[in-house]
Amino acid sequence: MNPDKLALPVGTTLDRFIMRKQEDFPYATGELSQLLRDIALAAKIVNREINRSGLIDIAGAYGIRNVQGEDQQKLDVIANIRFIRALRNGGEVCTILSEEDEEIIQTGNIQGKYIVAIDPLDGSSNIDVNVSIGTIFSIYRRVSPTGRAGTSADCLQPGTHQVAAGYVIYGTSTMLVYTTGNGVNGFTYEPSLGEFFLSHPAIQVPASGSIYSINEGASDSFSAGVAAFVKQCKDADFSARYIGSLVADFHRNLLKGGIYIYPATARSPGGKLRLMYECNPLAFIVEQAGGKSSNGRQRTLEIEPKTCHERCPIFIGSRELVAQAEAFIAQENAAGGAR
Ligand code: AHG
Ligand code: MN
Ligand code: MN
Repeated sequence: MNPDKLALPVGTTLDRFIMRKQEDFPYATGELSQLLRDIALAAKIVNREINRSGLIDIAGAYGIRNVQGEDQQKLDVIANIRFIRALRNGGEVCTILSEEDEEIIQTGNIQGKYIVAIDPLDGSSNIDVNVSIGTIFSIYRRVSPTGRAGTSADCLQPGTHQVAAGYVIYGTSTMLVYTTGNGVNGFTYEPSLGEFFLSHPAIQVPASGSIYSINEGASDSFSAGVAAFVKQCKDADFSARYIGSLVADFHRNLLKGGIYIYPATARSPGGKLRLMYECNPLAFIVEQAGGKSSNGRQRTLEIEPKTCHERCPIFIGSRELVAQAEAFIAQENAAGGAR
């Protein structure tokens, strides 16, 4: 090996990065930093489970699995358990809103100042076919007093109140991308060291792009505005890219430029994706990266949530493309064709 290479600096680990950022805020208590580290730890554990999931099936085929006769738990349930456990043990979070649980979860940490909304495993239809999946999370400061359990009002804050948000993508490599409202940074996991390293500092989404991502299987029920926008993308020779894992579709467009759309459809008249743990965290990230997110008529982050698991349409990605989509929808409304 070239000895000069040994003199190269070691990359910045996620822990060091979080610590440095904390030093920028002299009165910070370190609780948010600890919470981010807890999420990163759970992400490493879930990453391990995901990488083993194929092997578990092989083991099952050879009769090694389920000696106690237990069914293998589904990966989204396992991920939910791992994240809840990490957040409970960490102590900073009083209440969790998870896609996997109808009711909000009290961690028992009544002094905890933070609320986490989470989609523990996003892209579940892709789990069994070896395609990228993810985790999405959003962090709020509680509005109820400490010393008692968190309330649903704590969990129903608009996206503008988020103090941090991020996602993990379990793909060709595993990455954690997050914001605390001061830009977006991406970290790539190095499994042999068990560390996330800063690999994508200060991510900026290109102002425009030539990728559109929408499930066109539902195109018969797109509203006139959405249909017209998609036609414009085709006329402009865009590429269609749709993985079916929101995190992966979003991540690609964040880096390359493009737009992701999940509109109202006949099957999902209010949109499919969930406001609190899918749309809002990604909207916070995209805005911090210079992009835009909207339900077609209103900025995603300003939607006043009414219920914990509510859904909304989403148009998210490069700011010029999202603005164009909104313009098509405004025209549709003006023509009286609103769905
Ligand atoms: P989840 O796996 O958390 O339930 O989310 C699935 C979501 C999202 O990841 C993806 O973009 C979308 O469902 C795909 O929906 P369609 O199959 O309707 O396109
Ligand atoms: Mn999801
Ligand atoms: Mn999910």
